[in-house]
Amino acid sequence: MFFADRVSKLHGSAIREMFKLLADPQIISFAGGAPSPALFPSEQLADITAQILKNNPAVALQYGISEGYTPLREFVQSRMKAAGNLGDSDNLIITSGGQQALDLTFKSLINEGDTVAVESPSFIGGLNSIKSYNAKIKAVPVLDDGLDTEALEEIAKNDKIKIVYTIPTFQNPTGITMSLAKRKKMLELAEKYDFFILEDNPYGELRYNGEEIATMKSMDTDGRVIYAGSFSKILSAGMRLGWCVARKDIMEKIIICKQVSDVHTPVLTQMAAYEFCSRYSLDEHIAKSRELYKTRCNAMLSALERYFPKDCSFTRPDGGIFLWCTLPERIDTQELLKKAVQKKVAFVPGATCESDDKSSANKIRLNYSLPDEGKIEKGIKILSEVIAEQ
Ligand SMILES: Cc1ncc(COP(=O)(O)O)c(C=O)c1O
Repeated sequence: MFFADRVSKLHGSAIREMFKLLADPQIISFAGGAPSPALFPSEQLADITAQILKNNPAVALQYGISEGYTPLREFVQSRMKAAGNLGDSDNLIITSGGQQALDLTFKSLINEGDTVAVESPSFIGGLNSIKSYNAKIKAVPVLDDGLDTEALEEIAKNDKIKIVYTIPTFQNPTGITMSLAKRKKMLELAEKYDFFILEDNPYGELRYNGEEIATMKSMDTDGRVIYAGSFSKILSAGMRLGWCVARKDIMEKIIICKQVSDVHTPVLTQMAAYEFCSRYSLDEHIAKSRELYKTRCNAMLSALERYFPKDCSFTRPDGGIFLWCTLPERIDTQELLKKAVQKKVAFVPGATCESDDKSSANKIRLNYSLPDEGKIEKGIKILSEVIAEQ
């Protein structure tokens, strides 16, 4: 009763409580969304960090500027520029993970009661941030080629949409990628109905099949697209580094919100990331990640083909770290999870990826970046048996 409205609707679900059980080393978890520690360049970062602390403690241990440690910021800016994601009227800020880029954007743009369109299903961290600003959420289904733009237009006709939150590439949780035609349509709709698009792209560089598709940010001509990026899946999640690109007037507010939130992202991790990227090749490092995740994705797909009950279906991602399974309608995957955990396998039930906490009750999200190929095969076999019993 004493809680602020902005947090009263946020509650840790029973499912998230259950994930505490995942500390059990016997559990094969497809539930997380973490990168593989096998890819962490830990030795290089150990040397780099020691050198920074020895040679440059006055910078590393001091307050930094809110926009980010300048060399890292310039490095990310040049990558974004090369990818077409940083226009002349844009600015870039380093954030504490991509999560903060989302939260600062929503904080800067959403008034209580504003309509925000989200994908159904979507990323829980983005959804919770939107909820915390008391927005009116409209869920738009994700189809095989991305968000249903016709459904979005229907909403836009009846409701003034302020912002659309989308993960167009290797979406969390579905692994689905939005087609080029739909990306163009989204930009058209944004102009016609005067809304912003937050393009959340933490997985875009993890493509291992098919051709790259232009980001909406790279095709945006009037500053309607705000772009969120992350180092979590391409370098380290624990260093908490991400970035946000937005038109200058929006960025001014984002910077003030960042100052209110955490003043700046830790200088030490920014310096270490910059040193890593300047001494070694981030692109080569990402190429290794792509290779590993491709192998694991293929391992999961072939295990699903072999063991999964025939009345279940699953997506086939061209990149990223998740896929999405549809089970028969009668199966409630929150209940299924309890049984699966008893058999030492975990996944994310679909309803936890929905803004209403209810839809997608017969769906599950599977992660394949963390478990190795052996665990993937074993875990999918067990999971398939649990589903078949159900
Ligand atoms: C779609 C999406 N956006 C943003 C994030 C935030 O990641 P981070 O804050 O680690 O950069 C995640 C993390 O899983 C994600 O899946």
